[in-house]
Amino acid sequence: MEVQVCFALSLIALLGVADAQVPHWGACPEPSTQPAFNLKRFMGRWFEVARLPAQFEKGRCIETNFTLTSESSALVQSSEVLKGEVKRIEGTAVVDDQKNPAKLGISFSYVLPYTPYWVLYTDYVSSAVVYSCTDVLRIFHVDLAWVLGRSRRLPESTVLRAKQILMENRIDVSRMIASPQEDCDRAV
Ligand SMILES: *[C@@H]1O[C@H](CO)[C@@H](O)[C@H](O)[C@H]1NC(C)=O
Repeated sequence: MEVQVCFALSLIALLGVADAQVPHWGACPEPSTQPAFNLKRFMGRWFEVARLPAQFEKGRCIETNFTLTSESSALVQSSEVLKGEVKRIEGTAVVDDQKNPAKLGISFSYVLPYTPYWVLYTDYVSSAVVYSCTDVLRIFHVDLAWVLGRSRRLPESTVLRAKQILMENRIDVSRMIASPQEDCDRAV
């Protein structure tokens, strides 16, 4: 047990530095996901409207373009503007659980494991709520969440509804912040 706790604490340190994520005690919550999720309809361009937790050091104008590559996988192309430059990153999304196609995994490198990318809610045409949680030995978990929009801005009521969906699944949204999407079409 001591070894496990030690391992867990070093992981906290590691993840903490890398992502400014705050660990929460206990295992990951088990949120409900989008029923009858349709991967094909989820494809295309999504903008990051809000994210959890606050990562102020990150870039602006974050967007992701999903392209279907098979019935259960997609190419993921993300970009952000960081210090005036457009940074691009490519990855792969796969349906992780055939019984629940809303549970995707995304990997941005062959050497990195797939991290959970669970679509809790989407109407496919305007907004989506995505959650990612990683358990460490069921002692604690670190999580990320995103409110995505088909446009750079969503009505305040849509963002509030998205936060409500996260809260209903016992996900702490107190550190959620709006993602900067100003002056983006000029920047890129
Ligand atoms: C998204 O990817 C598809 C396929 O590569 C491409 O045709 C489309 O132009 C891309 N859209 C954006 C907004 O980058």
